[in-house]
Amino acid sequence: MKKFFITTAIDYANGSPHLGHAYEKVLTDVIARFRRLMGDEVFFLTGLDEHGQKVQQSARARGIAPQTFVDELAVEFQELCRRLDISNDDFIRTTQERHKAVVRRILQELYDKGGIYKADYKGFYSTRQEQFLQEKDRNEDGSWPEIFGEVTEITETNYFFKLQKYQQWLIDYIRSHDDFIIPRFRQKQVLEFLSEPLNDLCISRPRERLEWGIPLPFDEAFVTYVWFDALLNYYSGVADKPGFWPADFHVIGKDILVPPHAVYWPIMLKAAGLEPPKALLVHGWWSINGAKMSKSTGNFIEPVAFAEQYGVDALRYFLIREMSIGQDSDFSLQQFLNRYNAELANDLGNLVNRTLNMTNRYCGAVVPAAGSAGEPESELKALWEKTRDEVIALNEEFQFHTGLERAFGFIRAINRYAEQRAPWKLAKSEDPADRATLETTLATMAEALRLAVALLEPVMPRAAGRVAELLGASRDGAWRERLAWGDSLAGAKVGKTAILFPRPNVA
Ligand code: MSP
Repeated sequence: MKKFFITTAIDYANGSPHLGHAYEKVLTDVIARFRRLMGDEVFFLTGLDEHGQKVQQSARARGIAPQTFVDELAVEFQELCRRLDISNDDFIRTTQERHKAVVRRILQELYDKGGIYKADYKGFYSTRQEQFLQEKDRNEDGSWPEIFGEVTEITETNYFFKLQKYQQWLIDYIRSHDDFIIPRFRQKQVLEFLSEPLNDLCISRPRERLEWGIPLPFDEAFVTYVWFDALLNYYSGVADKPGFWPADFHVIGKDILVPPHAVYWPIMLKAAGLEPPKALLVHGWWSINGAKMSKSTGNFIEPVAFAEQYGVDALRYFLIREMSIGQDSDFSLQQFLNRYNAELANDLGNLVNRTLNMTNRYCGAVVPAAGSAGEPESELKALWEKTRDEVIALNEEFQFHTGLERAFGFIRAINRYAEQRAPWKLAKSEDPADRATLETTLATMAEALRLAVALLEPVMPRAAGRVAELLGASRDGAWRERLAWGDSLAGAKVGKTAILFPRPNVA
């Protein structure tokens, strides 16, 4: 079995989960489920980024200890995973001892090798962004952009990690590994960043300014810079699992590609004598109703509440169907409802009901054996084989939105097939030939539906499981084999009708 290690970014523990967090977890989950179905041994890691100034500030604002604060959020984020059917194998928190031990070990090793040095640093510091700023960060008129909040000039003694030493190595590495950054167009942005000389990275914060972090093992008057700490989660998460490093994919948003994931992280690993991850999969950002999501203006979606109202599978479906990886996308309730009604309730939901109803009515709730196939059956089977191969190929390339489009194209073809054969008319005939066609039609519909929902398993695990159960279909055995057109349902007892996607209750 091929080992496959995939991660999400670890979310900042300074507020409740939002749609962006939900999307990244669903996307990663779809990949993880797909790889498992393809036969890989998958390890799927997600978690929480719990140190740093923002967390310390948020906890203070609430008048509670940072640990208490992050403990509450960890419950909320883990609940998010559970409620969205995220199949993560582990949930790492950067305050866990297993993580801190790895961070200390790597820091000590780098320090011993001379990769970390102490120096004075004078510069403009943004408290809000927890970073020293550079001249190029200024607005044209010399002021600092608003996102930095209050900016003050300070001098500090700190520890620095030698980034620049590896700049050329990184450029060469990226140039010779075309599949390191996906989608490929983002590579340019990274190489542009690397065309300027890199500064070494300040990886410490004096304790008097920031308490809430991992103390440096070689100087306890300092804590570790939050990005240096957070990035290492990917490695500490599998420290006790031989064979999983390097990660196959880190799934991240476009805002954290440069510099943390594309520059700091590979260099940190290189300096520590570890292999870089095989690839960074970079997704775009969601806006809501055309605007940036923001809790304060109410342009915000609570993913758990949304899934409760409209269904987990419907939310997962929409997120994956709507966004083409790499591009930005907009979440509007209207567009969600359009897809829900047309694709989930009509195309898929009605097909399930039609198939079950007629099998109950005309065949005593038992799927008949398919007789000899006519042209419509052969055409549908050929379309299935084409769709299946295309969808698998698209999934391998992370084109899940197109994969879903194709899968639903097949679902609509099953509906058209039913219209063409019109089993409800055949059922009225006394002619044994019509009876035979009726049975073939219902057998074909059931088989095609079984296959279509098997293809949807990574995206809509609940609906797929429910339909398989209603059709009396077994889900044992390798997925690829289950995707072969056959007569496996003949004799299966089907369930009564079920409303998979009820008309949504829109207030
Ligand atoms: N804690 C850091 C990541 C450390 S990884 C070693 C962080 N956290 S975050 O909570 O701000 O963001 C977590 C992930 O959510 C990031 O990949 C980010 O791109 C993603 N998203 C945050 N808002 C988003 C949208 N509006 N849309 C899509 N994804 C977005 O960054």
